[in-house]
Amino acid sequence: MNPVDALIVSGKYAKEFGTHLPLTPGYDIAGTVEQTGAKISKLKVGDPIYGYVLWGGGFAQYDIATEAEVAIKPKSLSYAEAASVPLVALTAWQALIDAAKLSAGQTVLIHGGSGGVGTMAIQIAKARGARVIATASTANQDLLQELGADVAVDYTKQKFEDVARDVDVVLDSVGKDTLARSYGVVKKGGFIATLVARLNQSELDKHGIRGASISVKPDANELDEITRLIEAKKIKPVVTEVFPLTEVVKALQQAATHHTRGKIVLEIAEETQAR
Ligand SMILES: NC(=O)c1ccc[n+]([C@@H]2O[C@H](COP(=O)([O-])OP(=O)(O)OC[C@H]3O[C@@H](n4cnc5c(N)ncnc54)[C@H](OP(=O)(O)O)[C@@H]3O)[C@@H](O)[C@H]2O)c1
Repeated sequence: MNPVDALIVSGKYAKEFGTHLPLTPGYDIAGTVEQTGAKISKLKVGDPIYGYVLWGGGFAQYDIATEAEVAIKPKSLSYAEAASVPLVALTAWQALIDAAKLSAGQTVLIHGGSGGVGTMAIQIAKARGARVIATASTANQDLLQELGADVAVDYTKQKFEDVARDVDVVLDSVGKDTLARSYGVVKKGGFIATLVARLNQSELDKHGIRGASISVKPDANELDEITRLIEAKKIKPVVTEVFPLTEVVKALQQAATHHTRGKIVLEIAEETQAR
């Protein structure tokens, strides 16, 4: 990264996703701008920002970002709440809006509706005017409803195929058997976006549908759109727990269960220190 295109951000909160050694993990950040490179034009020192940084580095007091990766933090959110948003909200946006072109009146089936991506996807789809069917286990049925799902399916008790038929779009964050059973519930001309697998082209062809494997990318403009939805109270983050940096192992163990309700956040500095 060219230093003149970069920002240095401090006093942050970070959310981990994956590890690519030897990088410092932490791909979601929220904090304040400490220094700006010469070509930085939109942001200035002291600005409160949040973002998804492609090269990580969030599990540290300072991180480096580009203007394409961060946006001004929503005023209505704490730093901890803001740090929980970028990667999962961008993933849901890029899957539902950019790839699947979800539109008002369509029906979308969202697997893993109570997880990081799912909680954002339900709210983005509702803000778009879509009808939402979402899946989660028994303990998370209340959350699906709270977030606005029109139909909540308990995948431990019910087959989603019995409820979801002829949907326009599927958002799959589970893969394996869940993805294999999803081709048949999409109407002809519909779309499957998966976050975790390669799609089976012969299954897509058999059902006359299209699909994409999503790989989320930082996008400051889309993050601005997400900020607008947060400020309009159409999206609220679900933060289940905030861990101090000293408990990073516990935080990562929780993330690795793949059963986190909403998001967990790592606190790098006290809220009051993040100006
Ligand atoms: N490709 C990309 O760009 C991209 C971007 C972001 C995330 N991802 C991947 O997408 C996946 C989801 O991410 P996340 O952050 O949302 O994960 P997460 O926060 O761990 O959430 C996973 C959710 O899935 C639910 N779940 C587990 N098994 C399920 C099943 N059989 N049917 C329906 N729901 C089920 C869990 O709910 P219960 O506890 O109620 O079971 C949990 O709330 C992860 O594998 C992640 O690595 C990929």
